[in-house]
Amino acid sequence: MGNNKADGGKKPAKKGPRKITAPGIIRMKAEGRKIAALTAYDATFAAIEDAAGLDLILVGDSAAMVIAGHPDTLSISLDEMVYLTKWVSRGVKHALLVSDMPFGSFQVSPEQTIEAVVRLMKEGRAEAVKIEGGEPMVETISRLTSLGIPVMGHLGLTPQSVHAFGGYGLRGAEEAEAERIRRDAFALQEAGVFSIVLEKIPVDLAKEVSETIRIPTIGIASGPYCDGQILVAYDMLGLGPQKFKFARRYLEGTDLVGKAVAKYVEDIRSGDFPSDDESFHS
Ligand code: KIV
Repeated sequence: MGNNKADGGKKPAKKGPRKITAPGIIRMKAEGRKIAALTAYDATFAAIEDAAGLDLILVGDSAAMVIAGHPDTLSISLDEMVYLTKWVSRGVKHALLVSDMPFGSFQVSPEQTIEAVVRLMKEGRAEAVKIEGGEPMVETISRLTSLGIPVMGHLGLTPQSVHAFGGYGLRGAEEAEAERIRRDAFALQEAGVFSIVLEKIPVDLAKEVSETIRIPTIGIASGPYCDGQILVAYDMLGLGPQKFKFARRYLEGTDLVGKAVAKYVEDIRSGDFPSDDESFHS
């Protein structure tokens, strides 16, 4: 093995970046390395994101909004999440692939949740799942982690609770809710989650939670002190009409794609496309 003479002088295969695992994500916090995460919904984007060096790719139920055009995340089904996860998994080699548990797939019982997780991992090839909610989810999450299933928590603005919250505003600004978020974070840690998404909570609260729990926090709209950051890929790429204060746009996607399509239309109408070089001759 690895001896150039013994294997006929063949060079050893080039090693790519190491596969990231759930324990690897926990280690990153211990080693003081920030975790970079993003959502993906198809194999093409997933492959681009993976090759760019992300640590974690989430098949978010935000697909319901950015892909399917629904006003919230509630309508996406388990079948649809399995389908999307299967696509994304074909593009991911390096990052940890996490799939969101859609609304209705984990609220009924631990047994129902296990069946849903099995589908996401077996058919979709997810390597971990994300579940929204704190203490009420502890029994279910403990069952999953005791079965060897890596689970990511999600606290603060949990979008599946939009109707209870009455919108997508900041969570944890008042002390009673801040205290609940602190307790939930510890409860999820005890239930064995490998990380927790903190969505849209005040910077100081996110900092405090991140400094007091052992597992990594992955922030979205929660400031710079979380152990990692995640964004919806379409927001970060400027694909979509809405601009959010917390979502830095690294590309004006709508503008660029719109201009490219308009030029394509113009070239067809003017006869410029296709050219002779873009055509076949017998
Ligand atoms: O569904 C999603 O995209 C998410 C992330 C933004 C955390 O839950």
